[in-house]
Amino acid sequence: MRAWTLDDFGFDNLNLREVPMPEPAAGEVLVKVSAVSLNYRDKALVDGVYAPEKMPKGLVPGADFAGVVVGTGSGVTKYSVGDRVTSHFYSTWQDGPWLPEYADHQIGGPLHGGLAEYQVIGEHAVVPTPAALTDEEAATLPIAALTPWAALREHGDIGAGDTVLVQGTGGVSIFAIQIAAALRARVIATSSSDVKLARARELGATDTINYRTTPDWAGAALELTGGRGVDLVLDVVGGDGLRDSIRAARGSGMVAVIGFLDGQSANLDLMNLLWQQTHLQGVAVGHRRAFLDLVGFLDEHAIRPVIDTVYDFDDALKAYDQLARGAFGKIVIRVG
Ligand SMILES: NC(=O)c1ccc[n+]([C@@H]2O[C@H](COP(=O)([O-])OP(=O)(O)OC[C@H]3O[C@@H](n4cnc5c(N)ncnc54)[C@H](OP(=O)(O)O)[C@@H]3O)[C@@H](O)[C@H]2O)c1
Repeated sequence: MRAWTLDDFGFDNLNLREVPMPEPAAGEVLVKVSAVSLNYRDKALVDGVYAPEKMPKGLVPGADFAGVVVGTGSGVTKYSVGDRVTSHFYSTWQDGPWLPEYADHQIGGPLHGGLAEYQVIGEHAVVPTPAALTDEEAATLPIAALTPWAALREHGDIGAGDTVLVQGTGGVSIFAIQIAAALRARVIATSSSDVKLARARELGATDTINYRTTPDWAGAALELTGGRGVDLVLDVVGGDGLRDSIRAARGSGMVAVIGFLDGQSANLDLMNLLWQQTHLQGVAVGHRRAFLDLVGFLDEHAIRPVIDTVYDFDDALKAYDQLARGAFGKIVIRVG
């Protein structure tokens, strides 16, 4: 079978190869992969800035994938041949508080991911694919949908009448807009593009700010909320801009620290943080129970993932190239 392997860091070392067919061990299922979706993480991993010390040579990347079970190892009870399944990123994190040992069991690095015609994966590391979604749609869920769901509903308690702020129109943020709107929250979305902001409104954003033409987007968010600030900021940008997210949050509000598009460290104004009594909440995707809750919510609200472009398996490098430029919603690679 064929698989993309990361033989060293850098895009020149992402190669399409013939590799042996994997065999499911006890507790594992063999999945014929139909679709993989990319996350910013996949680029950071190839660039060697995402836990590089943990990544094995020859890693099959692709944390998020969906496909069909074509074989089972001994002791598998939850799935049978023919079942449609979707990967669960923190494969050993099933429920409850985060434990550091979960970090070593991330699908798509350090564990092999789905950018292959077939892949083996633990039965606890998949969820049933929602019947209403295609495999290409389901492949977008494991990281990009679960992360904002965890911020909004596991760490936060966002519901009708609350206000959230969402940065940019990438994979995480588009799901954040859709989910928060379905929760009947007021959604302030930012983007570098007025065209994208118009599309964000169609998906449920109630207010929009162009952060290029309005660099003081935090001030604009304060104005929109009558000076109060928002209940929850989903910060996917990181870097020193985190100061602005703290400014944009209401007193005792929450900033979900999700991403690092602008940098992995931040210089904070501690006085503003303590006076405002802001809750800074790190978010690392979520556990399997939250994933199942999310799937039920998407189904109930008939939310369909927003896919920017679907690439063929052989064109995976083009998909990574678009990832580096930014997409509206998700980028998917069709495998089957
Ligand atoms: N902690 C976690 O569990 C977790 C989970 C998923 C993702 N992440 C992280 O979250 C970040 C976003 O991930 P993603 O997969 O959604 O990325 P993505 O799809 O590549 O999102 C890129 C978009 O972000 C927006 N953006 C870029 N720089 C911005 C800035 N300075 N201000 C506002 N928006 C900006 C742009 O939107 P516009 O074109 O509209 O301006 C851009 O198109 C990444 O750092 C990723 O690693 C973390």
